[in-house]
Amino acid sequence: MMDQAQKLRDIVQENTSEMTSKQDARIITVSSGKGGVGKTNFTVNLAIALAKLGKRVTIIDADLGLANVDVLFGIVPKYNLSHVVKGEIPVQECIFKGPYDINIISGGSGIMDLIDLEQDQLEKLIRSLFYFNNVSDYILIDTGAGLSKSVLSFVDAASDIILVITPDPTSITDAYALIKNIVREEEKKIKLIINRVESNEEGDEVYNKLDQAVSKFLSRDLENMGYIFEDNNLKKAVRKQMPVLEAYPRAISSKGIENIAYNLENNSKYVKSAHSFKTFINRLINKI
Ligand SMILES: Nc1ncnc2c1ncn2[C@@H]1O[C@H](COP(=O)(O)OP(=O)(O)OP(=O)(O)O)[C@@H](O)[C@H]1O
Ligand SMILES: [Mg+2]
Repeated sequence: MMDQAQKLRDIVQENTSEMTSKQDARIITVSSGKGGVGKTNFTVNLAIALAKLGKRVTIIDADLGLANVDVLFGIVPKYNLSHVVKGEIPVQECIFKGPYDINIISGGSGIMDLIDLEQDQLEKLIRSLFYFNNVSDYILIDTGAGLSKSVLSFVDAASDIILVITPDPTSITDAYALIKNIVREEEKKIKLIINRVESNEEGDEVYNKLDQAVSKFLSRDLENMGYIFEDNNLKKAVRKQMPVLEAYPRAISSKGIENIAYNLENNSKYVKSAHSFKTFINRLINKI
């Protein structure tokens, strides 16, 4: 096991020294305690909003649920990351180009259960992640919901975590349970998005409630990144298999997501050194 991890660390070292002037991509995992709260819609539209701000964005769909990233873009990618990891195709071929040149990568089954991968597969996965790092300013990982081991290992490795909740009480308690499992590291920043609010006051109320519980019992802060309103246009866009930011750019939900992208880029707590790509990969390796 030690040798295995060492080989992977060598790959990190070798790839790090190859990285020249380019800054590391900022890796953000999007997760939730409860399913169906709007993670995938948020991830896809955040990608578009960031791309509109001039950023190069890669989405990795690590969720194997049904309503996944592909479906929202109305695409059927031929290959996914599991084909790369199995050595069937080069990494470039698993990238599907979305609107605004967004890179869309489907995880494929089994890929996120790192523990199940063979050594050479892990090496290919890590090399692939370096490739995505080199072509991106942001890497957004849609991790799916809950406390499964594969979700937790990615959420735990990332320093930037966006938690999506809705005002629904079970969404809030499930989010609390997830936070409890990921707060161990000091520098980890948990950012909260409240989706499907009916008013800003409702958003404030939900934020304050969760933030107070988290600060009282877990001694951590939650960063309030903004609210997305309940919006029929978003549902209509889903039925059209289009991101709402593309189908209805002036919709209230689109504006909310653009506002969050702006906050992320300009106002959020983000320490580059502590959040480097190399740190992310090393943390992943340490979990194997
Ligand atoms: N702001 C919103 N306004 C109205 N409906 C919404 C909003 N956000 C999400 N929805 C509805 O919730 C559904 C589920 O959203 P989405 O697939 O993004 O959730 P998810 O958290 O990724 O689910 P899963 O846990 O299954 O992966 C959408 O198809 C849409 O109908
Ligand atoms: Mg989803």
